[in-house]
Amino acid sequence: MALERTFSIIKPDAVRRNLIGKIIAKFEEAGLRPIALKKIHMTRAQAEGFYGVHKDRPFFGELVEQMIASPVVVQVLEGEGAILKNREVMGATNPANAADGTIRKEFALSIGENSVHGSDAPETAAEEIKFFFNDDEIVG
Ligand code: PPS
Repeated sequence: MALERTFSIIKPDAVRRNLIGKIIAKFEEAGLRPIALKKIHMTRAQAEGFYGVHKDRPFFGELVEQMIASPVVVQVLEGEGAILKNREVMGATNPANAADGTIRKEFALSIGENSVHGSDAPETAAEEIKFFFNDDEIVG
């Protein structure tokens, strides 16, 4: 399996509940190393741009409000097959469907306040990493 990079957000609901360390531990235990990491408070423009693909969906406004309500942690994770591995560690979008042991099963509150975001494919991973990080912030 190839060494990959993926993009991750620890969402406001999880940061507010002091779960940053517990969530990063899950990534590290799965072989996903944080090679770039920062805490930011997303602007409305950033949230609307980042989630632009969902702009016509009924939950778009709620999603944006949730993402700008309080700070998040954005990360680049590196590891063998990191994109799929991260999705496995996160669990299903809706915590009601998430498998035991996953971040969302353990920590998520709802389909919107679901504790983490992760890129779903190599193209989106590259775009999402660029959206939040300059090359000199990534220390592989
Ligand atoms: S997926 O996995 O992309 O197909 O999931 P999807 O259902 O399309 O959801 C995409 C993102 O939108 C968030 N979402 C919501 N936010 C607020 N309210 C409601 N009702 C809602 N439904 C979905 C969901 O958490 C996904 O966020 P990210 O950050 O991409 O995981």
